[in-house]
Amino acid sequence: MAHHSSTKEIPAISNVPKHIAIIMDGNGRWATKRFLPRVAGHVKGVEAVRGIVEACINRGVDYLTLFAFSSENWRRPADEVSLLMRLFVTALEKEVAKMHANNIRLKVVGDLNRFDAQLQKMIQVAETKTAGNSGLTVTICANYGGRWDVVQAFNRMTAETSVAGPIDEDQLAPYLSMAYAPEPDLFIRTGGETRISNFLLWQLAYSELYFTDTYWPDFDASALDTAITSYQTRERRFGRTSAQLAGQTSS
Ligand code: IPE
Ligand code: IPE
Ligand code: MG
Repeated sequence: MAHHSSTKEIPAISNVPKHIAIIMDGNGRWATKRFLPRVAGHVKGVEAVRGIVEACINRGVDYLTLFAFSSENWRRPADEVSLLMRLFVTALEKEVAKMHANNIRLKVVGDLNRFDAQLQKMIQVAETKTAGNSGLTVTICANYGGRWDVVQAFNRMTAETSVAGPIDEDQLAPYLSMAYAPEPDLFIRTGGETRISNFLLWQLAYSELYFTDTYWPDFDASALDTAITSYQTRERRFGRTSAQLAGQTSS
């Protein structure tokens, strides 16, 4: 089923966000503050993922999307990049069976061609294995960029359909890499920066944004609850006025 577009119709709002998307930032600074190598922060960051996945299941979140590696992170020193790749492989080796046992559906989105063949194969196997699960959908954005996503969607659309003339957003949306998920209700960025860093540019159109100084390795279930509580105080107007929302009669 195609998900509704927040710009085409006003989505139903639930108290617990259905979809949470997170920029997991601050691993390096977490480590540096402790006089540890940056990699120690990434290792701790994987542990934090486990805790947040579990918390999302317990709170009834349907989709959790995690920015693990951006299309711009290749600019980092080669040893940090290769370490992140190894961590990714190790995490898949260790976690996929557990995820499957917990009814989690795992998706990995991004330009995966740039990863080595072994990692690509592992991703494919993990996705296939968990494809039929009906619990939390966990999406890892790896070599992902919001601009890449829009461009790849456009390219696939023009390759598959004979579009002539101007297109509508509804024509492009099914080709976006996260077309299987509703748009994020809540966006979280840890680590103190207040920017999007080329994450889900299209999909964040009407997401509630939450920024915290907490470094990702320290982001635990109670920190998630604080973010969700903040979300629950927001008035999601989708272009309407407060008075319209209060009345809820005129649309
Ligand atoms: C986020 O933490 C993880 C990745 C980008 C892979 P960082 O590595 O960006 O940590 P900081 O921002 O340098 O502290
Ligand atoms: C964003 O963090 C990407 C991920 C968390 C994977 P960065 O640390 O790469 O973002 P910038 O460079 O500070 O914008
Ligand atoms: Mg960073």
